[in-house]
Amino acid sequence: MQNKYLAMTPPMGWNSWNTFTWNINEDLVCGAADALCASGLKDKGYEYVVIDDCWSLKQRDENGRLVPDPEKFPHGMKAVADYVHSKGLKFGMYSCCGTHTCAGYPGSFEHEFVDAETFASWGVDYLKYDNCYKPKHMDGEVLYKRMSLALRNCGRDIVLSACNWGNEDVHSWIRSSGAQLFRSTGDIQDNWESVKNLFLSQLDKTAFSGPYCHNDIDMLIVGMHGSSNNEFIGNIGSCSDLEYRSHFALWAVMGSPLMIGCDIREMSDETRRILMNDEMIRINQDPLCRQPYKVKNHAWNDNVLIYVKALANGDLAIGMFNLSDEKSRAAMNLDEIGLPFSTGHTLELTEVWTGDTLRARNASLTAELEPFASKVYRAKVVKL
Ligand code: GAL
Repeated sequence: MQNKYLAMTPPMGWNSWNTFTWNINEDLVCGAADALCASGLKDKGYEYVVIDDCWSLKQRDENGRLVPDPEKFPHGMKAVADYVHSKGLKFGMYSCCGTHTCAGYPGSFEHEFVDAETFASWGVDYLKYDNCYKPKHMDGEVLYKRMSLALRNCGRDIVLSACNWGNEDVHSWIRSSGAQLFRSTGDIQDNWESVKNLFLSQLDKTAFSGPYCHNDIDMLIVGMHGSSNNEFIGNIGSCSDLEYRSHFALWAVMGSPLMIGCDIREMSDETRRILMNDEMIRINQDPLCRQPYKVKNHAWNDNVLIYVKALANGDLAIGMFNLSDEKSRAAMNLDEIGLPFSTGHTLELTEVWTGDTLRARNASLTAELEPFASKVYRAKVVKL
């Protein structure tokens, strides 16, 4: 029986695009599956291995079916899927709602049902579905609904990861389409400015993400350190580890999927530490999937944003983010999150990166933040 309850919490995994773009093949994909297991990432919950654009031939076969490029994937896609599954992982692929993919390979427009059937026959568990070459007269909403219907009737559980970059007010109709994810942003680049702008662009959309249908702010750039072979992704010089940390914290608190974009076969120790931070993952994967709300920063600094996320066990995740290149202060009042002194309660907090613990005093919480730094607390409500 099919399990229709897919992606209750944001999917986690690895995607080939950010680092490798067109330069993909079965050794890379199987190597990524090996690395997910050997590094311990799989044990932390990263389970999808997703091949992005550039995997097929430029022509369909005589039956109108997509054909994997035999030079890149000499054993075919079923063999790759079988390998990924043999590692206890799930397998993802990519197509487009238009006539072509962004890199010019065949798209699924007017082939939705046959493609869904093909993906199912290969053992695909996740489909990233892009928005290039969409015929001008077609409504995107209709095309995403079509692929969603095709996938939900292909005989296999396949997550639909819609990727229309936030066009056509996607947040307002995507949940009804049956899709499990919606990319709400343009493409991420390996630099802080991009991370910051993607985050800021979604702050008025937080109400639309939730269990079974998540706002996807794009794949992670953590640990890439300028390694992309794509000029757009890697053209303005990369991030520091501190910036990668804050990027990961922002994505975790926002409930975005955690799809790793770096070369996981060669991660630095710090990259591992960031991607495998248990508490950050727990906040991201909290079963309620509540979106964070904004709290006023009483330090009067517009570059420091404070976001609070309600967690399933009654705790709160409190993220303080310094988006600027100046040392800055964060200060919040507990009465604004429901804890005035008169309640007889306060917060006991554990900082997620350092493990430091503290107890809130004077009904406020303050922090000093280095440039681009973040502090994320798991906060427990306790009696005064
Ligand atoms: C873009 C998409 C990227 C990547 C790329 C492939 O439209 O946003 O994440 O999939 O296409 O060509």
